Amino acid sequence: MPESFLDKQVKWSRKHLLGLQELEKEEIEYILELARAFKEISTRPIKKVPALRGKTVVLLFFEPSTRTKMSFELAAKRLSADTVSFAVSTSSVQKGENLKDTARNIEAMSVDIIVIRHSASGAPHYLSRCVSAGVINAGDGIHEHPTQALLDMFTILENKGRIEGLKVGIVGDITHSRVARSNIYGLKKLGAEVILCGPSTMLLPEFQNLGAEICYDLKEVLAEVDVLNVLRIQRERINENLLPSIAEYREFFGIDRKKLLKYARPGLLILHPGPVNRGIELSTDVLDSGLEEKGICTLVLSQVTNGLAVRMAVLYLIAGAGGKIEDSN
Ligand code: CP
Repeated sequence: MPESFLDKQVKWSRKHLLGLQELEKEEIEYILELARAFKEISTRPIKKVPALRGKTVVLLFFEPSTRTKMSFELAAKRLSADTVSFAVSTSSVQKGENLKDTARNIEAMSVDIIVIRHSASGAPHYLSRCVSAGVINAGDGIHEHPTQALLDMFTILENKGRIEGLKVGIVGDITHSRVARSNIYGLKKLGAEVILCGPSTMLLPEFQNLGAEICYDLKEVLAEVDVLNVLRIQRERINENLLPSIAEYREFFGIDRKKLLKYARPGLLILHPGPVNRGIELSTDVLDSGLEEKGICTLVLSQVTNGLAVRMAVLYLIAGAGGKIEDSN
């Protein structure tokens, strides 16, 4: 751990990480700084430290996940915690057991942290009132996905050296996006300007109340922003008549080489939380290679790498480990 970090006197007293709305700017900065120190551990020949030895982390995922679930599990293992993964499809949820009883029975086996993803907005908050373990929100309905926004901010910081004063665009289905909400809370606290863009059926004017600007024209947004976070088009929602067609969405809001060449600022960073619908919200060539001639980078895989470090930091803080992270090498 860098000396400067160990010297820093930021107190972490939260038992749960439920969202970025309730975090102070200093707490967000503290997580990002801790994540920077943790990132180095995954580059070592032995990618493990004993910081959370003896702790148990349960992954309670009621919705599908590749990145978030796997990186929480790896993060816990790299800190030497034990992990248990809960598969809804083979659990007693199928027999009608509710969330509270499920969690309290799991907790009766002496677990320390429950990482929960659930389709119901507010499920992690409810859970935090039912159990004495620490609760981490891994995405709740359309509400928040705090560790996704933290890893997005970490990736911006790593590539731009700052967040304050940057203009960050978020494009897509804003209304139904927990990623957008957490990003707005976090980015505004760290001093970025946030511009939201998407079809009017997917971007309610109320988002201005969160301090974000709204623009329905992607060309204007591309001409202004330093970073563009491209959201997944949730094809399961097309039935709700939110879009006339996928082809129309791609034409007006899809990011491709032609639009970037014509409208984007040089040096633009493109983020996407994944999973990506190749050829819809992002064209395959831009996803794989960015746009070299304008210095435009797509950072989707860097985000995944950084997600591991951010989740190590969050688990470490929620476990209340404190003290020095010992080197296992
Ligand atoms: N970004 C994200 O939450 O991806 P997963 O659904 O794969 O976890």
